[in-house]
Amino acid sequence: MFLRLTDLIDPPVHLKIESYNPAGSIKLKPAVRMITALEDERRLAPGSELIESSSGNLGVALAMVSAQRGYRFTCVTDPMSSPANRKLIEAYGGRVIVVTERDENDGFLQTRLRLIRDMLVANPKLIWLNQYANPNNVRAHAETTAPEIFTSFPRVDWLFVGAGTTGTLMGCLRYVRAHAPATRVVAVDTEGSTTFGGPAKRRHIPGLGTSRTPEITILDEIPEVVVVPETETVWMCHRYARRGLLFGGSTGTVLAGVDRYGAEIAADAVVVAVSADLGERYLDTVYDPDWIADHFGQSFHDQLYRHPEDHL
Ligand SMILES: Cc1ncc(COP(=O)(O)O)c(C=O)c1O
Repeated sequence: MFLRLTDLIDPPVHLKIESYNPAGSIKLKPAVRMITALEDERRLAPGSELIESSSGNLGVALAMVSAQRGYRFTCVTDPMSSPANRKLIEAYGGRVIVVTERDENDGFLQTRLRLIRDMLVANPKLIWLNQYANPNNVRAHAETTAPEIFTSFPRVDWLFVGAGTTGTLMGCLRYVRAHAPATRVVAVDTEGSTTFGGPAKRRHIPGLGTSRTPEITILDEIPEVVVVPETETVWMCHRYARRGLLFGGSTGTVLAGVDRYGAEIAADAVVVAVSADLGERYLDTVYDPDWIADHFGQSFHDQLYRHPEDHL
């Protein structure tokens, strides 16, 4: 499904809505692909125990698929993941471990990965899906997300994709290279993420950004990157909420990235952007006034809530 946004830049932006599947986010695709690949390799049996590091959405998707197929699942996450996602994982029978110690890049990824490595040593039967290094994460999007886009829009001039593990990005790039080389793919990242070599800075919104370049990321293959500060993400989310569309945090970032590119995009261009999830899972964060004041300061909070008409 695509939403046609006519109020962001000159040409309409066709936003690919990925949240209308049972897991509520784009991460159902890599979850199914990674587990199915293990089954095809005959590495799973009823009761097998899977583990993954996730900021939430992949955790929810893996918990759902594991419940359906009879596997046990542990999600290692951090305080940036939404409480709603953690509860969903537990509702599907998964276990959630929240690490609280920041890593050397002021993120949590390294801490999450270190804990998983320790747990794998302690329990050799545990199977780590490792979305940051798993080629099936990329394949999932090369085989589904990208073909879905080009089936709906045979010509795409600009494709904006948020970068977390970069599975969606690398999968779309792989498809575009083979089938639509004229399409300009723009990676959208959060300020403070080190995926593309930028300086590390504290981030608060889950989904996009990492505190180290994932193994599946091939930097030479990424033509364009736009970096968005988290305050712009929040503005964009609130702007659309006031227009009746409640987007997830990373969608706000992607749309802010499109906005930053607006001047370069011709009025007759076909523009597609990928929306990984919707906003219900962010009611305690991006859409919570106290959380906004705590994380971005009282004056930002006041601009956002007291004088929104000046900005939204
Ligand atoms: C909300 C949201 N947006 C974007 C992404 C990024 O997708 P990818 O990991 O394919 O880069 C994720 C990944 O977890 C996500 O949860």
